[in-house]
Amino acid sequence: MSEATGKKAVLELDGKKIELPIYSGTLGPDVVDVKDVLASGHFTFDPGFMATASCESKITFIDGDKGILLHRGYPIDQLATQASYLETCYLLLNGELPTATQKADFEVKVSQHTMVHDQVSRFYNGFRRDAHPMAIMVGVVGALSAFYHNNLDIEDVNHREITAIRLVAKIPTLAAWSYKYTVGQPFVYPRNDLSYAENFLYMMFATPADRDYKVNPVLAKAMDRIFTLHADHEQNASTSTVRLAGSTGANPYACIAAGISALWGPAHGGANEAVLKMLDEIGSVENVAEFMEKVKRKEVKLMGFGHRVYKNFDPRAKVMKQTCDEVLAALGINDPQLQLAMELERIALSDPYFVERKLYPNVDFYSGIILKAIGIPTEMFTVIFALARTVGWISHWLEMHSGPYKIGRPRQLYTGETQRDIKR
Ligand code: SDX
Repeated sequence: MSEATGKKAVLELDGKKIELPIYSGTLGPDVVDVKDVLASGHFTFDPGFMATASCESKITFIDGDKGILLHRGYPIDQLATQASYLETCYLLLNGELPTATQKADFEVKVSQHTMVHDQVSRFYNGFRRDAHPMAIMVGVVGALSAFYHNNLDIEDVNHREITAIRLVAKIPTLAAWSYKYTVGQPFVYPRNDLSYAENFLYMMFATPADRDYKVNPVLAKAMDRIFTLHADHEQNASTSTVRLAGSTGANPYACIAAGISALWGPAHGGANEAVLKMLDEIGSVENVAEFMEKVKRKEVKLMGFGHRVYKNFDPRAKVMKQTCDEVLAALGINDPQLQLAMELERIALSDPYFVERKLYPNVDFYSGIILKAIGIPTEMFTVIFALARTVGWISHWLEMHSGPYKIGRPRQLYTGETQRDIKR
């Protein structure tokens, strides 16, 4: 629980003083509890939640000025290079890294839930083959709520825990199938003898005609690290969406589908796909200067740059760039888009327009280049993000449901018509 500091903020309104309690967490800014402002007949006003802490959480801490990202206290670069994605999932869900036994048990438990009810595979047929895979994911993940509803009691901690396992386990299957469906290949079923990332790449790229398909271990390792780098990120737009949907007591699978919907936007998880499209449009290093002028004229944004919280380097972008170099070197790929991205970064980091606005590369800037090297098509980039972020979303859902919570119900500043009568 947060600590009451004993300190108070004093707000003077209409000649009256309102004392507002201040709470401290273990890291980060103190918060001012503003609920008593209501008694004065006022609302607080914070469009875009620029200065609003929506909840108390123990899962992830971000320091945007110092470029720090901790999951349950562990720095993201250590998790990405010293732990597997499933170990990070265990950490996010349970609060501690697993022991060897706990890790083995968790891996077995996840592997036993990678299949989906066979009826789920039929939902894909309702989509056009050229449907965006994120549209498919919104549909099929939401559809899981039809398979786990009547016998799901979200007040029962065991039901909540198996829901988390089911989602972490099934999301790669549904994600791979959203790709297979769009390329007209038969669905490939999960295998229990492969690691989490290997299994996903196997379901993505194996075909019945190639029974001996083997996943390149370099790609599996890079995929696992990319999953870890996307696992959770505090109260971002999609996580806040999951929490708000969850605050009504809605079915957790439907809440995750809401998170997928929110993530899809190009300002959020859709940025990784938008970065590759931007690099394609720029074409070559010679066109960078002209493109940057368009950015400064606000005709376009430099996708993969900027962040609501990070006003320094996104620590994930650093690990992503390092992984990018490793994967391209291991595969012997000299991707001109990497050179183009590095030139964009070089210019942005020295140009006053970006420096003044503290715009640095974020998690999405380099991820697309690695995903392309792994063979993932651009339209699947945000699906990969959603796959990896599912554990973060459900960890926040679990945290909210593990104690008392209220339905989220913001108010507004109304500037519309005053009351008037219909005159016929
Ligand atoms: C993710 O919240 C999270 O934690 C998200 C995420 C996660 O893991 O969940 O980290 C994942 O979503 C990363 C962000 C991916 N999005 C992009 O890369 C899209 C490009 N970035 C921007 O759209 C923007 O930077 C946001 C949306 C990320 C942040 O927007 P803010 O905090 O609302 O900032 P802003 O729009 O008010 O920008 C401040 C200034 C403005 O200029 P001025 O009006 O002051 O002159 O910076 C400019 C903006 O125009 N600006 C950019 C820019 N981002 C901000 N200018 C050019 N290119 C950009 N990318």
